[in-house]
Amino acid sequence: MIKFDKDNLLFNLITKNTGYIFCIYKGKFPVHIHYGRQVSDITDVELTFPHMRRAFSPDDNFSDKTFSTDTLPMEYPFYGSCDFRSPALHAQYIDGSRVTVCDYEGYEIEKGKPDIKGLPHTYQDKDAECETLKIFLKDNLKGLKITLCYSVFEEKDIITRNVIIENQSDDPIRLNRTLSMTMDFDNMDYDFVHLFGSWANERHIQRTPLINAAITIDSKRGTSSHQHNPFFALVGKNTTEDMGDAYGFGLVYSGNFIAGAEVDQFGTTRAFMGINPFNSGWMLEKGESFYTPEVVMTYSHKGIGQMSRNFHNIIRDNLIRGKYKKAERPVLINNWEATYFNFDEEKILNIAKKAKDADIDLMVLDDGWFGKRDDDTTSLGDWFVDENKLPKGLKSLGEKVNSLGMKFGLWFEPEMVSAQSELYKAHPDWCIHIKGRHRSEARQQLVLDLSRQDVREYIIKVVCDILSSAPISYVKWDMNRHLSEVGSATLEPERQVELNHRFVLGLYEVLEAITSRFPDVLFEGCSGGGGRFDMGMLYYHPQIWTSDDSDAIERLYIQQGTSLIYPASSMGAHVSAVPNHQVGRVTPIDTRGNVAMAGQFGYELDLNNLPQEEFDAVKLQVKLYKKIRHIVQWGDLYRISSPYETNHAVWQYTSQDKTEIALFITTILGKPSARFENARLKDLEPDKIYIETLSGKEYTGAMLMNIGVYFRDNVDFNSQLMVFRVK
Ligand code: DGJ
Repeated sequence: MIKFDKDNLLFNLITKNTGYIFCIYKGKFPVHIHYGRQVSDITDVELTFPHMRRAFSPDDNFSDKTFSTDTLPMEYPFYGSCDFRSPALHAQYIDGSRVTVCDYEGYEIEKGKPDIKGLPHTYQDKDAECETLKIFLKDNLKGLKITLCYSVFEEKDIITRNVIIENQSDDPIRLNRTLSMTMDFDNMDYDFVHLFGSWANERHIQRTPLINAAITIDSKRGTSSHQHNPFFALVGKNTTEDMGDAYGFGLVYSGNFIAGAEVDQFGTTRAFMGINPFNSGWMLEKGESFYTPEVVMTYSHKGIGQMSRNFHNIIRDNLIRGKYKKAERPVLINNWEATYFNFDEEKILNIAKKAKDADIDLMVLDDGWFGKRDDDTTSLGDWFVDENKLPKGLKSLGEKVNSLGMKFGLWFEPEMVSAQSELYKAHPDWCIHIKGRHRSEARQQLVLDLSRQDVREYIIKVVCDILSSAPISYVKWDMNRHLSEVGSATLEPERQVELNHRFVLGLYEVLEAITSRFPDVLFEGCSGGGGRFDMGMLYYHPQIWTSDDSDAIERLYIQQGTSLIYPASSMGAHVSAVPNHQVGRVTPIDTRGNVAMAGQFGYELDLNNLPQEEFDAVKLQVKLYKKIRHIVQWGDLYRISSPYETNHAVWQYTSQDKTEIALFITTILGKPSARFENARLKDLEPDKIYIETLSGKEYTGAMLMNIGVYFRDNVDFNSQLMVFRVK
């Protein structure tokens, strides 16, 4: 619900458990008042924020000299006047001036949620589920109009923000910094939580107190990156999984971003998020508009766990689209770690046949099926089948896989070109490069310039042609390098700085065209594992390969971190061979199965190479996963023990109707005299009887929540999966 108090120009955005309040102070300045638990009425705006002018605070040339924007909590600050903290917007005008001062021009409230042109975004699912507020601001001297958009998903405790910037002047305006949001807090008593990492090591959790400076996370790599994820949370000092304030912010964007929290001289905090202004900018011509990506925000006073569940719900219900939004996802087997580039039709069919014996649903053919790609040095861009490996083509292979009773899936890396390829020979200027400079390769490949329409058309055509040519039900869309020597052969010099953002816009255009043409195909995103695991990609790809590190123990940390914002239905997780290919660790088949079953389940090995007892275990895993996948994929996650803080990970998934629970307990290192631990379940009905279906044992909800389930960390990498059902 959006409440408007016209006497005070006060807006109160109310969700089931939260409230977000700001006003247009003195009829001019959008001032942030509150985000947190609901405050339904404000008696006097003057009581809601300290607005004393301080030494060195200039006044804003307003008749009232009691305040300055230097110290006001601002809703969307511009550079140039009296607020010296980091601005949300920095624009440059034809006369070289870089000062923006806006007046409030009005507001609009509408049902539903408008699209954000060219960008992925959350959407309203059913009528009246969402309302949108638009605040119009204008710099009348320079003709720059700003629209602040707020959409309120009342039932989900989610508020989204995005900004539209329009040039209403006759001259071009250069946008140097266009953040999607800032939010001012009146203190700095928070910890900053974010997800950092590297290849095969993504989304590790770091929690650190705010300091009297800025904490910034970002990407300058052209994608959202393995290194930092476009997400952060501000949580109270004592906030836990279940208690305390937790504010979460996630960006629906897959390119260079910046986010963080800046503490000012008086100990107030400005949180911020948006496109990275570094090496970026946009020339806005007369009459044009620029759209910032959307920020999804949530607040919970019930800790980090509820913050995550709020994100999971909005991502599953109002971001992911298409047939697989609600459909249970297939169990797949992928040949990458089984064969790498060394396969032929027979090998793939042998893997598929064995997988069918275990009732696996989908056979995915990974890298190496096209051009002359026997290793990673060649052929990206040459999307025609390698007849040496697959003499009868993809259609025949797909049909043979189908005739086993399985679906067939295929790997692509469409944004790339190998220097050794027909495509590169024909179009050496199609890649991102700067004339005369060395073109740095990574994994022997270059990035196609998706700002170019001819390149986008080529990608759409080749991918669509292949998808039409064979019975392909699934696509793994990979992206294995970041952008260097960022330049385009076709952009004018003054627009070269736009290339990073134009690349992302081009990618979204390509993905929209292909995914809408093949609505029944399940798309899984990938970027050297989880290097582009963000809400932007989830708009097109309902699931993403979480990491190239498939070791079960490593995955405990990666999946725990990923789950802070992203739901299990989006996290590709596979059982792979031992010794594990990334870290050499040998873990039991049950543990590998249990950790993978806590995500979007699959296999990445040749099941023909397993001893019979392990293959029998695989059969049981697939059978069990099919019984519990609705709990994992659509249920509520409760993180009971963290691998970052204890010697185990304990994850509870509760089905939406709250009658079924899957409980995953995995030990990291064993100790002979380990004490008994008890995993206390959360949010059950105390008086109901819960049967553990694998053992037949019965517990009351109160027992499970208050006494818990006993286990011991006495064996390395041990794991158990319990499944409870209300009697
Ligand atoms: C990187 C991906 O993360 C892997 O799963 C695999 O598809 C390789 N690329 C193939 O080159």
